[in-house]
Amino acid sequence: MHIDLDFKNRHVVVFGGTTGINFGIAEAFAAQGANVTVVSRREENVAAATEKLRVHGNGVHGACADVRDFDSVGLALAESVTVYGPVDVLVSGAAGNFFAQAKNMSSNGFKAVIDIDLLGTFHVMRQAHEHLRKPGATVINITAPQSTIPMRYQSHACAAKAGVDQLTRVLALEWGADGIRINAISPGPIDGTEGVKRLMAQSDAEREQATNMVPLQRLGTLDDIANLALFLASPYGSYISGTVIPCDGGGALESVKPVLEATGRLAEAQARKI
Ligand code: NAP
Ligand code: COA
Repeated sequence: MHIDLDFKNRHVVVFGGTTGINFGIAEAFAAQGANVTVVSRREENVAAATEKLRVHGNGVHGACADVRDFDSVGLALAESVTVYGPVDVLVSGAAGNFFAQAKNMSSNGFKAVIDIDLLGTFHVMRQAHEHLRKPGATVINITAPQSTIPMRYQSHACAAKAGVDQLTRVLALEWGADGIRINAISPGPIDGTEGVKRLMAQSDAEREQATNMVPLQRLGTLDDIANLALFLASPYGSYISGTVIPCDGGGALESVKPVLEATGRLAEAQARKI
């Protein structure tokens, strides 16, 4: 269930918006009347996402681009603006992650995650700047608890997401005078997503353990995150900029130790297989 806000005739662009949490955000804006562009690498994901979004009856545009490629990000944005006009809401959520011990991780493995999460977010924001509605646009970056909580075997993702948080703050300083608000959402474990499958819960026992770590005693839903994105992009969020907002059932408050232990055990098991 989404909070009821009017985004009719607004253009929302979601990078990494074809699956999981980011698709949930794209769908929430589509349900509130927005014209939505989703961008990711794989043609089959783009096709499946655009087909689902069309159900809402508004404009839908899909583009294939790898956020690591500065020029292809620019092309995807330029194309989308030709179709639906200046960007009112920009979401940067493409990410990659896998467990690997730093001592065994290849340079390219570390670089792959830094390039998708951090450099990719810079590419998306940098290329979007000329297309953002000024004043009035909102940028939402999708970060993660790894940005502040050190987690074993995720040196790449921890470093990358910490960078995303700071990029959010610095560009909020630089672009505030253009009337652009920039914030980040830091989701907790969101049920059914690739992130949870890869990093936390592959069995029922692990899922229960992950649930127990959350003070609210449940995993998050796609709507939990999408509703925060809707709120941030709406007039109700009009004086919020430069913040990183956890949406995690309180997880960031007390989960450091159990998260470390749980991901440590799971990662240990996976890392041995590499
Ligand atoms: P997901 O379903 O794997 O979503 C990642 C999306 O990014 C996919 O649409 C993928 O599509 C796209 N993508 C990956 N690499 C890309 C690249 N190089 N260029 C362009 N697009 C790319 O993952 P998720 O679990 O929903 O996570 C979404 C976001 O939430 C991430 O930023 C993640 O760090 C954050 N987060 C997730 C959780 C969680 O519980 N799941 C918790 C905290 C934070 P293609 O394969 O088609 O490119
Ligand atoms: N353990 C150790 N190293 C790994 C690895 C793993 N599980 N998976 C990939 N790597 C290394 C590769 O070996 C390669 O390094 P090398 O050239 O030195 O061998 C490097 O990472 C890049 O791998 P590649 O498969 O070419 O990357 P890609 O660009 O196709 O994919 C990933 C990027 C690895 C991040 C991939 O997991 C991905 O596409 N993820 C997106 C989805 C996702 O992670 N969602 C959850 C978000 S929280």
